[in-house]
Amino acid sequence: MSVAVYPGSFDPCTNGHLDIINRSSKLFDKLIVGVLTNMSKSPTFTVEERIELLQSAVSAYPNVEVRSFSGLLVDFMREIDAKVVIKGIRAVSDFEYEFQMALTNKALYPELETLFLHTGQEYMFLSSSVVKEIARYGGSLKGLVPDELIPIVGKRCRMAE
Ligand code: PNS
Repeated sequence: MSVAVYPGSFDPCTNGHLDIINRSSKLFDKLIVGVLTNMSKSPTFTVEERIELLQSAVSAYPNVEVRSFSGLLVDFMREIDAKVVIKGIRAVSDFEYEFQMALTNKALYPELETLFLHTGQEYMFLSSSVVKEIARYGGSLKGLVPDELIPIVGKRCRMAE
C-alpha cells in the first residue's frame, strides 16, 4: 500500500492546504496529514483545534487520516513506515527552504522521498498567516478556508487579538 505524509503546522488549514490534500490523496492509497505539535513559534490554534478543523475539512476523503506528531518528521515517518513526504510549493521563495528541508530529511532517512506539488494558482498568495491577518481585522475569509470553518476561524483569530 502506498502511503504519503503531508506535514505542516496547519495553524489553521487553508483552502491551499486542502487543494494539496485533495490532489495528493489521488496519488496514494493513503494520505496522512501530519500536524506538528511542538512548533517553535506558539500557534494561534491548539493542536486539538488544528486537528479538529482539518478533520472536518477532510471528512469527505476516505483515504485521508489526520494525525499529530512531535519531534523530527523522519522519526514520525519511520514510526508509521511511510517513505513519501508531500510539500506544496507556492513560489520560488518557498522552494529554497523546502529544498534544504528535503535534503536534511533525506540525510536523516535515505529511503525517504519528498514530492513537491505546485500550489493551485488561485491559492498562490494564501497562507495560514494571511488567513489570520484577514480574520483578525474582520475581513472576509470566503474562498480562503472551507465555508464551514469561517465562523470558527474568524472567532478564534479575533479572540487572539
Ligand atoms: O506548515 P509548516 O509550518 O511550513 O510545516 C513545517 C513542518 C512541520 C513540515 C516542518 O517544520 C517539520 O517537518 N518539522 C518537524 C521537525 C523536523 O523534522 N525538521 C526538519 C529537520 S531539521
